[in-house]
Amino acid sequence: MIGVAGATGGLGGRIAARLAEQGVEQRLIVRDPARAPSHPGAEVVQGGDYSDGEAMRRAFDGIEVLFLPSAGEHPDRVSVHRTVVDAAAAAGVGRLVYTSFLGAAPDCVFTFGRDHFHTEEHIRASGVGHTFLRDSIYLDYVPFFTSAEGVIRGPAGDGRAAAVARDDIADVAVAALLDPQHEGRTYDVTGREAFTLAEAAEILTRHTGREVRYVEETIDEARESRKPSGAPDWEIEGWVTTYTSIAAGELDVVTDTVARVAGHEPITLAELLEAQPDSWAHLRG
Ligand SMILES: NC(=O)c1ccc[n+]([C@@H]2O[C@H](COP(=O)([O-])OP(=O)(O)OC[C@H]3O[C@@H](n4cnc5c(N)ncnc54)[C@H](OP(=O)(O)O)[C@@H]3O)[C@@H](O)[C@H]2O)c1
Repeated sequence: MIGVAGATGGLGGRIAARLAEQGVEQRLIVRDPARAPSHPGAEVVQGGDYSDGEAMRRAFDGIEVLFLPSAGEHPDRVSVHRTVVDAAAAAGVGRLVYTSFLGAAPDCVFTFGRDHFHTEEHIRASGVGHTFLRDSIYLDYVPFFTSAEGVIRGPAGDGRAAAVARDDIADVAVAALLDPQHEGRTYDVTGREAFTLAEAAEILTRHTGREVRYVEETIDEARESRKPSGAPDWEIEGWVTTYTSIAAGELDVVTDTVARVAGHEPITLAELLEAQPDSWAHLRG
């Protein structure tokens, strides 16, 4: 039995749909069954928050391979992850397909990337089999980096990122869930072109007909410009270091993982804008 945690989410929902299309039986493990997708061959089980180890252990009972997306950002996310990994180990799950982040390291610039490093370490120590998907930044988010005024603002310098679409990550995840040969592997999951944010602005301008420009901020300016959101400091630091990690070159990595594991080329930013016009609806005025 394949388990899909976070099936109400962007990746989990895509994976559940793809598994159902292939006629695979699955268990969707969600916090809120009312928002769970409905698919033939899919049972829906209410787990709980990842931090509720006992509820998660019950929900994982009988699962052989589990898609485990990282939890929403939280100051104590590593401990939330340790709890859910321990629950999977206690339930006898054979392998976790965990969504990590490109360049995950204890000292990476992107502060949320550090959580992924410590989570990977805990999964390795747990003895549960694993496949780590170290995803680049989502390509789907690039249009949303742009304000309604047509400005991408941040301290990314002229660094590059090979952002990857969630559809492509989902295809890699499905292949990893279905084939045990992916056991023990760590994949850097990226798009096929690494672009600067100035180049992203040019692509957005070309495909939306709306002038988009990139405006470089200092780190202090970036913190200040995000303060009105009311988000706590740790979260603002996570957002700002998304950009500084690009400046530092941490995301300037292009791999052939999508082609090799999913069997097709990943889509580009131009292709995504063409296929998903809703992603830039806010730029139409
Ligand atoms: N690579 C990137 O650029 C990037 C960008 C953003 C996020 N991420 C990470 O990748 C993960 C998966 O991406 P996604 O697109 O599927 O995100 P998403 O659309 O936000 O969905 C996250 C899913 O995980 C569930 N979830 C989150 N925290 C949980 C918790 N503490 N306990 C139980 N369930 C929890 C959510 O449940 P509910 O529906 O009940 O909330 C939802 O089903 C995200 O959760 C985030 O950690 C990566």
